[in-house]
Amino acid sequence: MASGVHDPEGAKLPLAMATEGAGVVTAVGEGAVDAHGDPVAVGDALYGALSGAAAQEVTEKTAGLFRRPRNVDPAEAAGLLLVGATAAHALQAIGVRAGDTVLVHGASGSVGSIVTQLAIGRGARVIATASVGHHERLRGYAATPVVYGEGLADRVRALAPDGVDAAVDTVGTDEATTVSLELLPDPARFVSIANFSGAVQAAGGKLIGGGAGADPGREIRAAARPELAAALAAGSVQVPIARRFPLAAGADAYAFLAGGHAGGKVILEP
Ligand SMILES: NC(=O)c1ccc[n+]([C@@H]2O[C@H](COP(=O)([O-])OP(=O)(O)OC[C@H]3O[C@@H](n4cnc5c(N)ncnc54)[C@H](OP(=O)(O)O)[C@@H]3O)[C@@H](O)[C@H]2O)c1
Repeated sequence: MASGVHDPEGAKLPLAMATEGAGVVTAVGEGAVDAHGDPVAVGDALYGALSGAAAQEVTEKTAGLFRRPRNVDPAEAAGLLLVGATAAHALQAIGVRAGDTVLVHGASGSVGSIVTQLAIGRGARVIATASVGHHERLRGYAATPVVYGEGLADRVRALAPDGVDAAVDTVGTDEATTVSLELLPDPARFVSIANFSGAVQAAGGKLIGGGAGADPGREIRAAARPELAAALAAGSVQVPIARRFPLAAGADAYAFLAGGHAGGKVILEP
């Protein structure tokens, strides 16, 4: 969105960036309720999908928004639901269950971190691809980290001599698809959120999300959001925060994110 690749003609400009956030209600319309149907009042701390959230104030319908408990960092709340619902959808698409060994490509990223935590929470073992600098955090989730790049399939085989049952690609590289299909007995247990080349579906894998040919999984994601909100409140899921920028440095924040190795959510603070 920031680079204009989705809007080469610039038809959507000017464009308010960021699609989710956290904040405090300063004014409220009659009958406003939150995601649980409870009345919303001035002073309530809410978070969720906010159109054009890179702003000091937004006007938004509240019915999809969740309450932020005091113990929850607003940055984690702001970053939870898009990546969390994507992660939950990915695991559902390939039926991850207790006892599975799951290969997660891009496990240090925002989506990958939540995929990893949710899969381990279900009783799966996760082999997590990431740069070495992110391995310590992945061990903290109880995952087994491994570096990506040449020789990945052999490194995974060494870590999982009994094989891999399922794989999640959050990166979109040829390597993620090729290695997953090489290691999996059943290609239907491979899901990508980022490879829109057609190769995943052609091989019998699954593609999810908003892009062409992908399953949007709206109902699965809607059902996942309250569960994620409860997990965040209970401290059983952590949203990795890579860096916080002041709103005025928004362009720097997007440049940092576009580097591809942020290691979590990039937060703009007003
Ligand atoms: N389909 C959907 O519903 C959906 C929803 C949300 C996001 N997405 C897409 O999913 C992708 C991931 O989003 P995100 O927010 O998780 O991104 P992110 O936080 O920037 O994470 C990127 C991840 O990719 C890894 N990576 C970077 N270059 C790599 C390479 N050459 N080989 C292997 N891994 C590499 C990084 O690992 P290291 O930093 O450790 O190297 C990091 O773990 C994006 O393309 C995004 O647009 C799709």
